[in-house]
Amino acid sequence: MNSAIELEALPPVGNQPAYLAPLVRAIWPKRGDEINALFQDGGSDINASADHPFAIKFEGEYIGITGFYRYDDAAVGSCWHGITPSMRGRGLSRAAFDAVRLLAANKYPGAQEIIELIPSDRDTDLVPYFSKLGFRHLGEIARFDYLPKGPAWRIYRAPLRSPNAGESS
Ligand SMILES: CC(C)(COP(=O)(O)OP(=O)(O)OC[C@H]1O[C@@H](n2cnc3c(N)ncnc32)[C@H](O)[C@@H]1OP(=O)(O)O)[C@@H](O)C(=O)NCCC(=O)NCCS
Repeated sequence: MNSAIELEALPPVGNQPAYLAPLVRAIWPKRGDEINALFQDGGSDINASADHPFAIKFEGEYIGITGFYRYDDAAVGSCWHGITPSMRGRGLSRAAFDAVRLLAANKYPGAQEIIELIPSDRDTDLVPYFSKLGFRHLGEIARFDYLPKGPAWRIYRAPLRSPNAGESS
């Protein structure tokens, strides 16, 4: 794990720091404003009160965001995970993801798995990445009202407590 990574807790609803909106727009150029609005009103996931969003810091700079939420009794969900374009490809996402898994495992001792919901319109770019982190699709499709309509949202699962479960190249 990259030990220079720090996770800084963000408030789950409203009162977001000034750096957050530009960072989110840089990470998700097509959906940045929509995601910022969700951040402000907490309408992000199944149970907004259980959201745990973080800014990712590296060498004193805010370079990404990540987070987790309670998915069900046996699992946490991963959300808001992204690295600003200029800092990608350096292992920082994997390091932040490992740190999130550790925090989520400590927060929810009964949870065994971590879930990532991947929309079908992003299969090509995200499936190879999350497969590397140890996620597998068992055929389940998510049907929650908060998910944007259009794509099918596939449920990918990985063990919560095996940070090195993913393949490494
Ligand atoms: C997906 C994303 C987080 C990856 O960030 P990154 O910093 O480039 O990832 P890392 O450098 O930590 O790479 C981790 C591993 O995944 C691999 N990887 C990264 N992007 C990949 C891709 N598109 N396809 C396949 N593998 C990929 C790396 O090779 C690395 O493997 P290794 O550890 O075996 O060497 C980044 O591209 C991003 O922020 N995208 C926009 C936001 C987004 O779509 N988030 C996804 C969920 S909402």
